[in-house]
Amino acid sequence: MLVAGLDIGGSVTKGVLMDGDSILAHSEVQASDSITSALGCLGRLLADTSMKIRDLGKVALTGSVTRRLKLDMIEVDYKIVDEIEAIGLGGLHLSGKKEAIVVSVGTGTAIVYARMNANGHHVEHLGGTGVGGGTIAGLGKLLLKKEYPSSIFREALGGELSRVNLQVKDIVGGPIGRIPAEATASNFGKVGDDTRPEDIALGLITMIAEVVATVAYFAAKQKGLEESIIFVGKLPSQEIFSNRLLDTLSILGGRAVIPKNAEYATAIGAAKSLRKL
Ligand SMILES: Nc1ncnc2c1ncn2[C@@H]1O[C@H](COP(=O)(O)OP(=O)(O)OP(=O)(O)O)[C@@H](O)[C@H]1O
Ligand SMILES: [Mg+2]
Repeated sequence: MLVAGLDIGGSVTKGVLMDGDSILAHSEVQASDSITSALGCLGRLLADTSMKIRDLGKVALTGSVTRRLKLDMIEVDYKIVDEIEAIGLGGLHLSGKKEAIVVSVGTGTAIVYARMNANGHHVEHLGGTGVGGGTIAGLGKLLLKKEYPSSIFREALGGELSRVNLQVKDIVGGPIGRIPAEATASNFGKVGDDTRPEDIALGLITMIAEVVATVAYFAAKQKGLEESIIFVGKLPSQEIFSNRLLDTLSILGGRAVIPKNAEYATAIGAAKSLRKL
């Protein structure tokens, strides 16, 4: 059966068209209104595959803003899927793992325990943090006067962390045990007259990645799964962010993967959950 999964996020709506386990198309749209973005995203998926609405067996809607969303204006069978379930199922599906901690790093950050078992699956919301992509976007506006997250990521490419962060080597002159010399001792703790906008952009992205990695590690550790973390969402698909995320986690003693199509994990999980009906 052909199904569409739509993930209406706090910032970006992502959609996938799936036939069984294969992804036929994916698309993302930015819109402040959920109906506009849901219909726009669905329209793009159908246009890209030359399909019609009547070809769809079902549509799964998920994300942070689906609670009051109705798609009754188009003739399609749809179901609203709990976002936590969609994150968990999507992370397991993309990583091929049977049990893991799935961390969705979007506008905010959600941490989910997920396990497949003989009767289906078990998903649990462990918590999260409001620190995420929305924080990069908001602080980027304040500190750098940049309207778009993509410009902040571009700016950061020329940044140097030693011009913005106080690092372990600044304090003790080298590494301490397993903590490398370049590890952060204090985010933004070395801002001075020579700190440039590109250093601030890199410092900002780095700080968010370090907070997310640390919170994810401690949540995973309480389940004994600190070596089975899966990061999904749009931010882990940005290289500057993902490098710092994985480095920070490995300093802590954890291990994580960022699967291919990580930004579509929640949309994929929603589509997958329809198969349990
Ligand atoms: N073009 C872009 N380039 C780089 N980063 C972007 C771009 N557009 C958005 N982002 C970043 O991605 C974040 C959104 O990520 P994502 O789409 O995973 O979140 P969401 O699903 O909308 O939010 P949530 O899951 O928290 O409801 C934004 O806050 C921003 O930091
Ligand atoms: Mg999301």
